[in-house]
Amino acid sequence: MTRTCIVNIGQLVTPTPSGWEVSVTQEDLLIEEGKITGIGGILPDLGDIVIDANGGAVLPGFVDAHTHLGFGGSRLDEFARRAAGETYQEIAASGGGIRASIEATRAMLGDVGSGLAHIQRQLNRHHRMGTTTVEGKTGYALRLNDEIRLLKLYRDAGIIPTFLGLHAVPPEFHGDREGFVREVCEVWVPAVAGLAKYVDAFIEPGYFTHDDARQLAVAARKEGLDLRLHVDQITESGGAQLAAELGAVTADHLEQTTTEGILALAAAGVQPVLLPASVLLLGASRYPNARAMIEAGLEVVLATDFNPGSSPTVSMPLIITLAMTQMKMSAEECLVASTRNAAKSLGLHDRGRIAPGQRADLAIWPVKDWREIAYWAGEIRPSCVIVGGDDVT
Ligand code: NIG
Ligand code: FE
Repeated sequence: MTRTCIVNIGQLVTPTPSGWEVSVTQEDLLIEEGKITGIGGILPDLGDIVIDANGGAVLPGFVDAHTHLGFGGSRLDEFARRAAGETYQEIAASGGGIRASIEATRAMLGDVGSGLAHIQRQLNRHHRMGTTTVEGKTGYALRLNDEIRLLKLYRDAGIIPTFLGLHAVPPEFHGDREGFVREVCEVWVPAVAGLAKYVDAFIEPGYFTHDDARQLAVAARKEGLDLRLHVDQITESGGAQLAAELGAVTADHLEQTTTEGILALAAAGVQPVLLPASVLLLGASRYPNARAMIEAGLEVVLATDFNPGSSPTVSMPLIITLAMTQMKMSAEECLVASTRNAAKSLGLHDRGRIAPGQRADLAIWPVKDWREIAYWAGEIRPSCVIVGGDDVT
């Protein structure tokens, strides 16, 4: 049995078991069999491996509960077009947007040898920013065999798999959204049931409707899959109420959600997943109303939405900087939303805090005060990242 000691920790920072508090102490850590087994004055000679934190801060690894990391290529051209004044909707209407990533994603998945290496590289990008658990959505392949291939790559890489079949209507179903929804519900959902943990849909004019989501929810329930939903991102459609009606585990985005929508989420116990980088990187200005959600008692989650179109970032530190400056969340609320609450939204209770028995998913940050991670905006990276007891730095 390998024992790892982390010593010389300046701040050991962790969410408490419930609520929005964060505990900050100065203790050492002992890791055995991939789990945290000791916290306190631990002697370095106990460890086969000793990691010197150099007086830095040790935090739980971030849990990024909303990403689309399974894509090929990039949409760098669209970023430039938005800078020149076009909107996300205009670019999508002219053949860009989600559909523009389909070909490159199919090509990436078609190359059997490099597919896993590509996904692993994407995951490593998250690790380097201190994220130790990643949820990944499908939805850029939009061809059953390729969606299945991607879900298998997620499984092999340890990524929490969400089947986002209703992301956009693929070229094979051009002009036949209803036919595509039927195919996804009747054939694709049963086919991915053993591989996916969640299903998801993009509810927005020009993409999918409330009724499409209802059909998807019925199909998912039959297969024992839970629902996460993209709602109220660009237009307010009562998407939060829809997520509540369907008993979704999470309602994601919510930039346009009204007070009634927030109350509906609270009544149904749906966790909001807020994605402020997609607002920043689309050049938009309306952020979700995190304060009202916290006041309504909701267990808010923060995530990157990493994707090639609206949110090309893997950086949870950037998310926290945005949540503090644009959404008026405290540093403590941001940490809880990025770790324990996010893990809960994925049904994972073995991570998201630093406590005996929890998985050893940790990052060491070269700062005296952990709040510097968001304050020195865009600068700070962890010096060491540990996933399940292994150094992945
Ligand atoms: O969450 N909304 C749908 N999916 C992504 C955007 C996808 C894209 O533009 O490629 C999102 O923002
Ligand atoms: Fe998304």
